[in-house]
Amino acid sequence: MTSKIWGGRFSAGPTAIMEEINSSIDFDQRLAKQDVRGSRAHCTMLVAQGIITKDDGHAIQEGLGRIEKDIATGAFHFKRSLEDVHMNIEAKLADLIGAPAGRLHTARSRNDQVATDFRMWVRAAIDTLDEELEKLQGALIDKAEAHADTIMPGFTHLQAAQPVTFGHHLLAYVEMFGRDRGRFADARVRLNECPLGAGALAGTSFPIDRHMTAEKLGFDHPMANSMDAVSDRDFALEYLAAAAILATHLSRLAEEMVIWSSAQFGFIQFTDAFSTGSSMMPQKRNPDAAELLRGKSGRIFGNLIGLLTVMKGLPLTYSKDMQEDKEAAFAAFDTLELCLAAATGLVADMRPDPVRMRDSATAGFTTATDFADWLVRVLNIPFREAHHVTGQVVKLAESKNCELGALTLADMQSAEPRITADVFNVLTVEASAASRVSYGGTAPANVRKQVIAARARFIKSRQP
Ligand code: ARG
Repeated sequence: MTSKIWGGRFSAGPTAIMEEINSSIDFDQRLAKQDVRGSRAHCTMLVAQGIITKDDGHAIQEGLGRIEKDIATGAFHFKRSLEDVHMNIEAKLADLIGAPAGRLHTARSRNDQVATDFRMWVRAAIDTLDEELEKLQGALIDKAEAHADTIMPGFTHLQAAQPVTFGHHLLAYVEMFGRDRGRFADARVRLNECPLGAGALAGTSFPIDRHMTAEKLGFDHPMANSMDAVSDRDFALEYLAAAAILATHLSRLAEEMVIWSSAQFGFIQFTDAFSTGSSMMPQKRNPDAAELLRGKSGRIFGNLIGLLTVMKGLPLTYSKDMQEDKEAAFAAFDTLELCLAAATGLVADMRPDPVRMRDSATAGFTTATDFADWLVRVLNIPFREAHHVTGQVVKLAESKNCELGALTLADMQSAEPRITADVFNVLTVEASAASRVSYGGTAPANVRKQVIAARARFIKSRQP
């Protein structure tokens, strides 16, 4: 097949293999909307600068308008033989309006064109992910509010450490996803400069107005160096790096859901909407959605590592290797969109069992720190010594196979004679959690305040 655009230079046309390896249309057609938008801005600028005539500009805009509609309705027919989205649209424009179409590519190269389209696409992807992250945070905050008082064990080393509130635990994820949004927002600020007008790499001799096209396309300013403009893919890497960190956070939440929903923990249940039965074992309720949420992170890390590897060691400026940049970005977006919807659904679906959680929080001497703190506060014992005394009391409880609160006062006084019955007041899990009122601590009163603060910080769409 002879490529219409290469026409004269390649008499025989690409072989089937060449077409196969060279063509990007199967995936870069996702840039079609951005490509038309970029071309329209470029055309407007060419007319404004007197580089092409008003009549040609008008014909081009009219043709691009029709193409835009066909793309929106799915009627546009992309051809592999035309290699990529840019050449497909340009060829179609030529079919529609004839000769003036050939003037659109004045003072432009596919190198600055693709960089511009792709930046606009990543920018839109970031905006969508930000909205999805806000929804996930909203679901977490709602659950946290409902469970500001629900006591559960807090873990270090996955060993019960101290009693915490479930609301506090969930708000930890609200912070993590807030930072993810911040990372995307930072990347968005840096990516929002316009490569268009860099030409193939060196700029152009035509009197173009790069500020005008940058502004029309919603960029803050044109990129300062034409060679950087066509070579840079940092913006995609930053987006993928933020995506990978987000995926890590999602996998941690998912893993906790898997643990919590196991029969051994029994902290939460999912409804049938988010769990499946086993084909063989009738008692099973598998948290498939959470497991897949955990597992999907692998793909996203792959997307980041893939593009880092493509870019590593590439000489300036454009090399065709860079055509490999798009699939990673698209795939990460598709995966994350699904994962964020699943995470939001899972959080809303979670049915906590406060009795199981509380029971579990009382096991494992989780109020030992409260005991030690009491010795420090009331008896003025140095913390290191209090830690030692507490260790003896825990050992005693262990040997009697009972909780700290079930020991007698005499038991406790055998370790430290000055202990009084007042110590029992700090040994319940409720008292322990309620006492953690330091800023950022787990006390229910804190959680209630943090719920309000988190809504104010993160939830634009639903201010109370
Ligand atoms: N399809 C190409 C890409 O995605 C467009 C840029 C092609 N530029 C070139 N000089 N061949 O990278």
